[in-house]
Formats: sequence, C-alpha cells, structure tokens
Amino acid sequence: MTEKRRILVTAALPYANGPIHLGHMLEYIQTDIWARFQRARGHEVWFAWADDAHGTPIMLQAEKESISPEQLIDRMHAEHLRDFEDFGLSHDNFSSTHTEANQGLVERIWQRLNERGAVRTRTIEQFYDPDRGMFLPDRFIRGNCPRCGAADQYGDSCEVCGATYDPTELVEPRSVISGARPVVRETEHFFVALEDFRDSLAAWVRSGALQDEVANKLEEWFGDRLRDWDVTRDSPYFGFPIPGNPDKYFYVWLDAPVGYLASFAEICQREGLDFEQWMAPDTETEMHHFIGKDIIYFHCLFWPAMLEGAGLRRPTAVHAHGFLTVNGAKMSKSRGTFIKARTWLDHLHPDPLRYYFAAKLGSGLADIDLNLDDFRARVNADLVGKLVNIASRSAGFIHRLGQGRLGPALPDQALYERFINEHQAILAEFESRNYHQAIRRIMALADEANRYIDEHKPWVLAREAGREEEVIAICTQGLNLFRIMMTWLAPVIPATAAAAGRFLDVALDRFDDIDRPLLDHPIRPFEPLLTRVEQTQTDAVLEASRQSLGAPPPAEPASATATATAPEFADEIDFGQFSRVDLRVARIESAETVEGADRLLRLKLDLGGVQREILAGIRGHYEPKDLTGRLTVVVANLAPRKMRFGVSEGMVLAASGEDGRPFLLEPDSGAEPGMRIR
Ligand code: MSP
Ligand code: ZN
Repeated sequence: MTEKRRILVTAALPYANGPIHLGHMLEYIQTDIWARFQRARGHEVWFAWADDAHGTPIMLQAEKESISPEQLIDRMHAEHLRDFEDFGLSHDNFSSTHTEANQGLVERIWQRLNERGAVRTRTIEQFYDPDRGMFLPDRFIRGNCPRCGAADQYGDSCEVCGATYDPTELVEPRSVISGARPVVRETEHFFVALEDFRDSLAAWVRSGALQDEVANKLEEWFGDRLRDWDVTRDSPYFGFPIPGNPDKYFYVWLDAPVGYLASFAEICQREGLDFEQWMAPDTETEMHHFIGKDIIYFHCLFWPAMLEGAGLRRPTAVHAHGFLTVNGAKMSKSRGTFIKARTWLDHLHPDPLRYYFAAKLGSGLADIDLNLDDFRARVNADLVGKLVNIASRSAGFIHRLGQGRLGPALPDQALYERFINEHQAILAEFESRNYHQAIRRIMALADEANRYIDEHKPWVLAREAGREEEVIAICTQGLNLFRIMMTWLAPVIPATAAAAGRFLDVALDRFDDIDRPLLDHPIRPFEPLLTRVEQTQTDAVLEASRQSLGAPPPAEPASATATATAPEFADEIDFGQFSRVDLRVARIESAETVEGADRLLRLKLDLGGVQREILAGIRGHYEPKDLTGRLTVVVANLAPRKMRFGVSEGMVLAASGEDGRPFLLEPDSGAEPGMRIR
C-alpha cells in the first residue's frame, strides 16, 4: 500500500433550529462515503463536525418556544444525532459550536488576528427595532423595494426585480419581529480586513484545493477590492461574547467553521492525537471540507483568511456540491417533497438512498434530482436485481450441496482477475468524488457476474447426479465476485455490506483484502440483504411529509402535472397571528386614477361608517367607474403607509396569478360594509 495519509474530513454544520432534511443528507452521505472509502484504503481518517448552534434565528426560535437557547440546541442535537446514526453515518464526533472548547479556539484565533493587525473597528449605521430592543439582521426587515416599489421585500434584495440594496434604503421598512418601524442607530463593529490576505488567498485558490468552477468564481471576486468582513453582532444575541466587549458577540459565521476544529480537538483529546501538529501551517496532515455551493464564500474566503491570520494550517481542499431537488423541483412543503431525514427513515431503509445519491453524484456543482420513480426503478434493478441476486442465487447451493463451505478453487480465475483489474480505476473515481462513475463500473461488473451464473446454470447442474462439485465451484465463483463488489460498495451501502459480511463470515472493510479469493471458507445462512422498494413506501414518505408540515393535500392524486403546479404556501401561522388581521367588508364609494402612477387607483371606501382612502395597484384592469358601488374586502388594521402619491390607509384584497392580473374579492350579495371576515 502507498503511504498512510492522515485525513480530517468535515461536512457543513447544520443549523440547530431545524430538522435534518434530505438536502442535508445529500451532503452528509457524500462526505460519509468519502470518509469510509479512505478508511477502507487503510488511511487514518477522522470525520468531525457539529451542530451550528448560534445566531439570531436560534435565539428567536427558543423565545417562541419559551425555552432557553441551550434547551433548544440540546434537543436538536439529540434529534440530529439520531438521524445521522440511523442513516449509517460514520462520524467520529458530532459536537456543537456552543462548547467551551470552541469558545477557547475562537478567542485564540481572535487574539492572533488582533495581534497581526487584521482587525478594524468602525462605527456603522444599522436598523434597530425599538419595540424589541435589538439590531435587526437584514433578513428580519421587510419593506417596499426602493427600485421597483414591490411590497414586502427582504432587507437586502428584491425578489421581484432582483435589485440588491442596503436595508436602510427600503421604503416603509418594518421589523419582522415586532412589526415596528425600525430606526437607524449607530453601533461600533469589528471587521476582519480580508484585503490583507489577498495574496495568500489568491495563491491558495490556485493551489488545487478547489474545483475549477469554484476557483474561477473566486478569481472573479478577487477582481474587486475584498470588502472588510463584519464579524460583530450586538446584544441580544446567542453566541460567544467578544472578549473585552460585553455587549458585542461574534457573528455566528465566525465561530461556526472554528467548530470543525473544536470538534476535532475533542477527538484528539479522546484518542491522544496531537491537535497542534495537525493544525500547524506546515503539517503533512490533510483537512477536507464538504460543503454546499451556497456557502462557498464563507469557506473559500473568510475561513482560509482566518486560518492564515491565526497562523494555522489551511484546508487541503474544499469540495462543493450542488443542491438536491425532489421530483425535478426545489423541495416544497406543499408538494410533500420537503422530506425530513426522520420521515424517510420511518418508511425506508437508508442504503437505497445512499446508493441512489452515489449513483448520481459527480465531482462538480450540478444539482442532483431525487426522482422517486427513478429512485425505485434504479435501486430495485441495481441493488436487488443485480447485486443481491448474485448472492441469493449462489448461497443456497453452497449450503445444500457443500455443507456451507466454499469450494477450494475458482473455476474462472481470469474472470476474478478482470474484476481486480478494475480496482484502481474504481478507487480513483471514489477519490475524485466521481461516485457515479465508480457505480457505473461496478454495475457493469455485476452484469458480468450475473451473465456468468446464467451461462453456467447451477440450478440445472444441481439436478444431475455427480455434478455437485461443479455446482459448488460455480457458486464459489459467484460469491467471490459478489464479495469484491460488496467491498467496493461498503462505503456506499454500509448496512447492507455489514449484513453481507456476516453471511460470508468475513469483514468487507478493507480494499486490500480482495486480492485473495475466499476459498474453502465456511459461510453462514443467507439472510435477505435488501428488499425491493415499493411505491407504497415512497408514497407514504410524500404523504407523511405533507402531513408533518401541516400543508393541505393536493386537490388531486399525485400525478405529475397536478404536483408540478401546486402552489407554494407561505410559512404557517397560528390562529392568534391570523386573528390579528382585521378583515372587513367595504363598499367602494369612488375610484379615480392617480396622476403619474400607471398602476394605481385611488379608492374611497366605506367600512361601515368609517371612511378610508386606499391606493390600490389595480389600474389598467378595471374601469374606475365600474368599481363604484361594488363591495370588496379590506385589511382594516394595516398601518397607514406613506407612498409617493399619498397615504394608503389599508389594503384591498385581490387574487392574482403569474401575469399579475388582479381579481378583486367580493363577498356574496347581502353582506354589509363593516362586517368582519373570520
Ligand atoms: N450552518 C451553516 C453551515 C456552517 S459550516 C461552518 C449552514 N447550515 S445549513 O443547515 O443551512 O446547511 C448545511 C449544509 O447542507 C450546507 O452545506 C448546505 O449547502 C447543505 N444543504 C442544505 N440544503 C441543501 C439542499 N437542498 N441540497 C444540498 N445541500 C443542501 O449552511
Ligand atoms: Zn424591486
């Protein structure tokens, strides 16, 4: 064997305020296969990661549940860990970023960054929620887009026109937390001067640590001056306080990647490894991060800059992958395709999914689709129909005719060697994360193995007297080919491989072992290794996913077209939240066009003795005079909004489809202005 590599492998840390879903599992399975693969080659491998426990959303989620953030992250940690174990992940440590070990490392890195002058202080202006008493992250502010005027857009970008902007530019901003109008406040923040690391970052980017497409993206970013990175959050925040600044906290993205190291430090403690040696800049050891393409910036700019600034080793490689889609579309709660790891495990074995992901994963950033029909067809054909079939066809004869003992020699040594000759190519595909190519090669061999058995027809020979030895030899050949393939596939389908190992009475966890065939070797009774995946199971997963997320079932049975057009619903609200919206019947007293605004009509409305003036974006679809006298529905308690053409005192409700054409809501005749809608 070649030199023994020492490898630290990580996957991106899941946030501790939500369940693990199949999108996460795509990454974690990809990582696990690679870690298991390296172990099977005989390398030293440590797979370390953690929950990402800090940040505003986690703080607010705990508040909503009336528990402490610590209680929330403890509960989520236990749930996540159970999901990972049941999916057969082989991590050596799954920790949390909220540990003393992590805090210690964060402070150490922070101190070194300060010492080398990479930290800057600046006063910035930021939105502050006066009701809630906190500064607001961009995602917690909504308002009208300053470019196109679209209502209810995020604080940093508009989903309608695609503009990006500063939250302070929003028109009619409001806090998502309290609904209050945020005010601009000054606060002093610490920044990491990324520009200081430009040269070493640029060298690292070209060092082969990154996929080409990722390196190209980074070079684009290097085209501009690298902006200082704001690593400060003001109290209240759930995170680590910045030493010497009791009201300031480290931004979650500063301590999260340090969590990789802290989790590994726990392993070092436990296993007696030298953490400092692993982390020294000139170390021979390797550190590989597996991440999704959405967090490249953090891992390929911020993180290596921090490591460099702290005098620590940089990642050997960052491996980014694409996103998981289900049945051809982004995972969707209403379609039942937002599938939690637990829901999958309630209805299906993990190995078929691990296999399917492997069969589709390459080394690039392409998205991966889990089409459930294709999934069933593929795993049933490959795993059950081809692979397990070889063993189940051979095992019975060995027991019936050979007292459960494999024969003393291989009848077709050349065929065995043809398999072994593929070994290096298959390892190379796994090494470079071209799992789909590895699977393709293995399945081509599975076809050969089945062909061998088909041609030699042991079931025919078994009926003829005196040919027992021949039958045993054929089945010995079959089982040996099966063993080679199961050894290659063990990183992909570990539970199935473990069962196969029990049946063959040999461990299948070392690639080196396959050079020598298993001969004159006792085997155990065959146990079913994997059963077919039935449509009832995948249907049950979709159904349960719909139910667990509280979305109504689609109107029709899940045919392709019905599901493809099902609407995506907004986040669930509870009854209390709904009842705060005061909807009233209103009569339109008059409607007029607004000078200079081609989309607006000025409506004067009677809400049962109360008059309101509302600016509604329905011009062009209604003749103003046709609206007069009509009844409609109004949000009566919406805060008045100042718009360019006046103040709008509420909102008229209308339905609209893709083209934006409005359909004004109207109660049945007999309704009176002022009636409440509930
Ligand atoms: N907490 C950060 C990572 C910090 S790492 C120092 C985070 N968490 S996450 O829970 O949102 O995502 C964790 C990982 O799962 C990320 O690598 C992300 O890209 C990946 N995925 C989340 N949804 C995904 C899909 N639908 N498909 C594939 N991977 C996805 O980001
Ligand atoms: Zn816009």
